[in-house]
Amino acid sequence: MTIQPADLHDLLQGRRSQPSQFVEVMLDVQDRCGYVPQAAMITLSRELGVPLIEVWRVAHFYKAFSLDPRGQHVITVCLGTACHIRGAPRARDQVTAELGLRPGETTQDGLFTLEVVNCLGTCALGPVVVLDGVYHERMTSRKLSQLLASVSKDAAYG
Ligand code: FES
Repeated sequence: MTIQPADLHDLLQGRRSQPSQFVEVMLDVQDRCGYVPQAAMITLSRELGVPLIEVWRVAHFYKAFSLDPRGQHVITVCLGTACHIRGAPRARDQVTAELGLRPGETTQDGLFTLEVVNCLGTCALGPVVVLDGVYHERMTSRKLSQLLASVSKDAAYG
């Protein structure tokens, strides 16, 4: 979903010409449409008084921001050290095999996006997979297959 000018106008209410607000506004844009469209970055730069290169730098630096549309469901596999030694690469490979996705990609039907991160702060529960913001701990191959199947099934009947 892209952001409409009216929505962006709403997000900017009371924040125009306030450069200190720009990260918060970008997070709001991300929440609203799942990514930060290029057109929104240009508008934020102009309306908040932040150089476009700074907006671009922040959007590229922080993993919280996506610059491409993401799928309806986002799967995040933690590949941090603790999760890695407990088998997280197998979880990533399983998602890749079952959905035909590499990290950073979205399925052609727009249903799934696969992301990888380096730590989610719940190392004792690894390997950790997050689906749409819900943490799934001590992930196994069986649990992951069930998780993916449940989303696919919901989409088929939804
Ligand atoms: S390494 Fe995976 S949660 Fe920390």
